[in-house]
Amino acid sequence: MLKINNLYKTFERGTVNEKAALKGLSLELRPDDFATIIGSNGAGKTTLFNAIAGVFISDEGEIYIDGEDMTFKPETYRARVVGRIFQNPLMGTAPSLTIEQNLAIAYSSSKKGFLRPAISKKDRELFRETLSRLNMGLEDRMKTSMGLLSGGQRQAVTLMMAVIVTPKILLLDEHTAALDPLTAEKVLEITKEVVKEKHITTLMITHNIASALHLGNRTLMMDDGNIVLDLSGPERDNLTVEGLLDKYRQVKGHILDNDRILLSQE
Ligand SMILES: Nc1ncnc2c1ncn2[C@@H]1O[C@H](COP(=O)(O)OP(=O)(O)O)[C@@H](O)[C@H]1O
Ligand SMILES: [Mg+2]
Repeated sequence: MLKINNLYKTFERGTVNEKAALKGLSLELRPDDFATIIGSNGAGKTTLFNAIAGVFISDEGEIYIDGEDMTFKPETYRARVVGRIFQNPLMGTAPSLTIEQNLAIAYSSSKKGFLRPAISKKDRELFRETLSRLNMGLEDRMKTSMGLLSGGQRQAVTLMMAVIVTPKILLLDEHTAALDPLTAEKVLEITKEVVKEKHITTLMITHNIASALHLGNRTLMMDDGNIVLDLSGPERDNLTVEGLLDKYRQVKGHILDNDRILLSQE
């Protein structure tokens, strides 16, 4: 479903701030893969997502989505098949527009690249049904401004916007990290349900090693612009948080340099 060959990206090349963020990264995801990604700060996780979404064209390498060569395709083109949710609930939605207007934009623009002038009755029914799945009562508040919702409600709606036209790939960048624990759990539950039901190939960055190991079917560890561990099957099933940290030490010869990742095992 996703095939990345030998991807390179260097920021601010030729300056004192030059930073090689992706260093020959390769990755292949099967259609039903739900892979979690962990790695210390600056490992290149968000840069990998930006490369997939087409925020920039990579320096070298190739990106295929469902067999289509996306390497030089612009972000707007890839948006039809790539859904994305950020850590910050304020991103990805328009605060002054209503819930249904936000859903309408996601519904029409990802489909045809145009805004439709009005929301039809049929669209509204689809939005109601979509929102009712969240069990947050938002289906009865479709004319409420997005800006009035809590972070968790907003993130839940953002998730529904990302999947209302089923994407081929869903990129989740610590999308529950800014939410309180209960809401985070709820948004994660909905994420799991939707991804499973719609068979969406998913990549999820998390700083929580325990959830990285029990969510999905595959865990990738990134370090210094590359994937240094790719775990699945029984090897992953039998791994503890401590076991994973040990593996990282074996691969890298040093310990994981991110306190947050070590401490957040809740
Ligand atoms: N737009 C950018 N301009 C310059 N440097 C960047 C940019 N985006 C990321 N970087 C650098 O690339 C490296 C990887 O960053 P990032 O992908 O955000 O890491 P992660 O998400 O794993 O914490 C970091 O050193 C970061 O400072
Ligand atoms: Mg990041």
